[in-house]
Amino acid sequence: MKRYRIGILTSGGDCAGLNPAMKWVVKTALDERLEEERDIRCEVVGIRDGFRGLVMVEPDAQDTVGHIVPLSEETVRTWDRYGGTFLGTSRLSPYDPQHDTSELVLNNIRKLGLDVLVVLGGDGSLAIASRLAKDGVNVIGIPKTIDKDLPQTEYTLGFDTALNVVTEEVDRLRTTAGSHKRIFVVETMGRTAGWLALEGGESCGAYIILIPEHDFSVERINELVLDGRRGGARYEIILAAEGAKPEGGTEFVKKEGQDSFGHKALGGIAEFVAEQIREGTGLETRSVVLSHLQRGGAPSAYDRRMGRHFGIAAVDLMAKGDYGKLVCLRNGRITACPLAQIEGKVKLVNVATQYDTERYNGRRTILNHA
Ligand code: F6P
Repeated sequence: MKRYRIGILTSGGDCAGLNPAMKWVVKTALDERLEEERDIRCEVVGIRDGFRGLVMVEPDAQDTVGHIVPLSEETVRTWDRYGGTFLGTSRLSPYDPQHDTSELVLNNIRKLGLDVLVVLGGDGSLAIASRLAKDGVNVIGIPKTIDKDLPQTEYTLGFDTALNVVTEEVDRLRTTAGSHKRIFVVETMGRTAGWLALEGGESCGAYIILIPEHDFSVERINELVLDGRRGGARYEIILAAEGAKPEGGTEFVKKEGQDSFGHKALGGIAEFVAEQIREGTGLETRSVVLSHLQRGGAPSAYDRRMGRHFGIAAVDLMAKGDYGKLVCLRNGRITACPLAQIEGKVKLVNVATQYDTERYNGRRTILNHA
């Protein structure tokens, strides 16, 4: 019987769905019936704090417990009910050109005896996974990010839970907005992709949705708001993706510089839009930044189920020795694609088919734009 030592880590921003996916990697890898059928016996260890754990661990030391934790079926039994990641995460890239630790990481993977490395991550973390695969590590990726901006997959863990948060929070805002006849501009996450704002806005029935893929005109927003009031609306909800920007402008950045993945910290668009509406219409307008609330809370039913399916599929790939792959959802079915195919790419909203550039909202024809 072959013996595999599997390491698993979560990297990048946390989100709901990570713990369910890890539970199902562990449960499937350790399933006795499958072990017999596949003639493979597995051991699974968790690596704490993303790739930081693989940098910090000292495999020769007696005690690696701060960075490496054995994962048994009993340990992960209830994990599918919880958000965040029980292993912790970080935004550390071993291939950061400012501080390259890739040699150390490759050595540590070897010394820890990891036959397989399962990486749960978004674009930055999966690009690292892809490079590790090129450097000879048996890597399998599981897609997660509330931004849902990974190519090749129709779903990334955490998105559905975040969508539910957006919808619930806007429901709360509606009662107070209506009572005071106020406009609320709500800032959602998503980086350079408008998926969370667009689908969140469609789910909660926002009056205006601003996405990074289509630069907006302040005058048009004000016109739409005044139209709404003329039509009898007491209040308006406007959703603004953090990466949205005015025509001729640039995205709003919270702090200068980039993280180890090369990402900027975006933020500030909602208050900018609120200010422009106040000035342009005289209507009372407030801004709300949903921020990390969108990444928090228990996973939705869909994230639990998708975490389960992605986790099981990752072990299927391992059993076939099919490495360097990302588990994906395509045409509604779980499948896999080479990690190299997503490296350095993001999937954005298709404005021509998915966005109404007149109303700044979701489209009102669907079948004509399939
Ligand atoms: O990529 C996920 C994400 O939540 C983005 O939508 C957001 O811009 C970013 O992470 C926030 O990162 P941090 O947790 O470092 O503030």
